[in-house]
This record gives sequence, structure tokens and C-alpha cells, in this order.
Amino acid sequence: MSVSLRDLTHENFDECINLRVREDQAGLVASNVYSLAQAQVDHEVTPLAIYDDDTMVGFLMFGLDDEDGRYWLLRLMVDHRYQGKGYARQAMEQLIERLRTRFSCPALYLSFPQRNEHAARLFLNLGFTPTGEHIGEEAVYRLRLDYMP
Ligand SMILES: CC(C)(COP(=O)(O)OP(=O)(O)OC[C@H]1O[C@@H](n2cnc3c(N)ncnc32)[C@H](O)[C@@H]1OP(=O)(O)O)[C@@H](O)C(=O)NCCC(=O)NCCS
Repeated sequence: MSVSLRDLTHENFDECINLRVREDQAGLVASNVYSLAQAQVDHEVTPLAIYDDDTMVGFLMFGLDDEDGRYWLLRLMVDHRYQGKGYARQAMEQLIERLRTRFSCPALYLSFPQRNEHAARLFLNLGFTPTGEHIGEEAVYRLRLDYMP
């Protein structure tokens, strides 16, 4: 397995919008077509495709929130055909390394509903801890990145 994060381009965006989570997960994440549209109008967000060698297996998007000055993971999905193989964990490890080294990013924030046990296991194992804040029904989690210039 060779996981990498790659930019979205004319060549690969069709493949990205055709990725799908399982039917029972549909309410957990916006469609990739919505996320890519959002990235066109909000230039603070960065969409990235998750690859294993040359196969696109998933998608993520992160960005700086102008209002609170924090970096947020805004989307993470792995296509239903490729879940449970460790792709999300490896993609998150690469994103964390990228934020640590290329951005002056002291911490990464994200939120998810408690019922999303799969996401909870992933993020807790990566070291995210609850901040005590909530956005609607979603609890906010943070990972400190200890940025070293
Ligand atoms: C959450 C999601 C991105 C995880 O992707 P994935 O590639 O299947 O995850 P991984 O294979 O890297 O596994 C991550 C962890 O979840 C666990 N896991 C894998 N399959 C699981 C399953 N079916 N049920 C519960 N936990 C599972 C793994 O054991 C792993 O834990 P570990 O770190 O202890 O090894 C994917 O399920 C998804 O796209 N879900 C729908 C969208 C979503 O919920 N996004 C998150 C929004 S915040």
C-alpha cells in the first residue's frame, strides 16, 4: 500500500465526484461534488484526493477559518469499496505531517456526531481530544501539532 494526498485537477475531478460512502453513511459527510463546489468559492479551503498508488480511494478537505483563526478538517471520506483497510488513518497521518511542516499550524480541529463510532475510533487513536465545545450535535476535537519552525 502506498498512500498519497494529491491535488484535484481537470484530470481527476470526475473520479472524485463518483466516490461514494456506504448508503448508511450518507448523512455523515457532504457529497464530494458539494465539497468541490465549496472549494471554488472559499479559497481558504484545500481539497485533496487520497490515493493508493494510482487508485483514488477517498477525499478530504481542510481549511483555515477566518473567524476563529483555527485549521479545521472539513471533510474526510473513504469510498465504500476501500473502507477498513487503513486508508483514512494513513491519509490523516500525512495531512497532519503536511500541516506540521508546511503550515504554521499549531492545532487541527474537527467535529463529528457521537453516533459516528468509526470516526471516533479513528480520531481518538490519532490523538485527538475533546475540547468541550459543540457545534449542533457534533463534539469538537483537537490535535495539537507542536509546530517547530
Ligand atoms: C470514517 C472513514 C473515513 C474511515 O475510513 P477507513 O479508511 O475505513 O478507516 P481506516 O481503515 O483507516 O480505519 C480507521 C479506524 O477505524 C476502525 N475501523 C475500520 N473499519 C471499521 C468498522 N467497520 N467499524 C468500526 N471501526 C472500524 C479501524 O480499526 C481503525 O482503527 P485503528 O486506528 O484502531 O486501526 C470512513 O468510514 C468513511 O468515509 N465514513 C463516512 C464518512 C465519515 O464518517 N467521515 C468522517 C466525518 S468526520
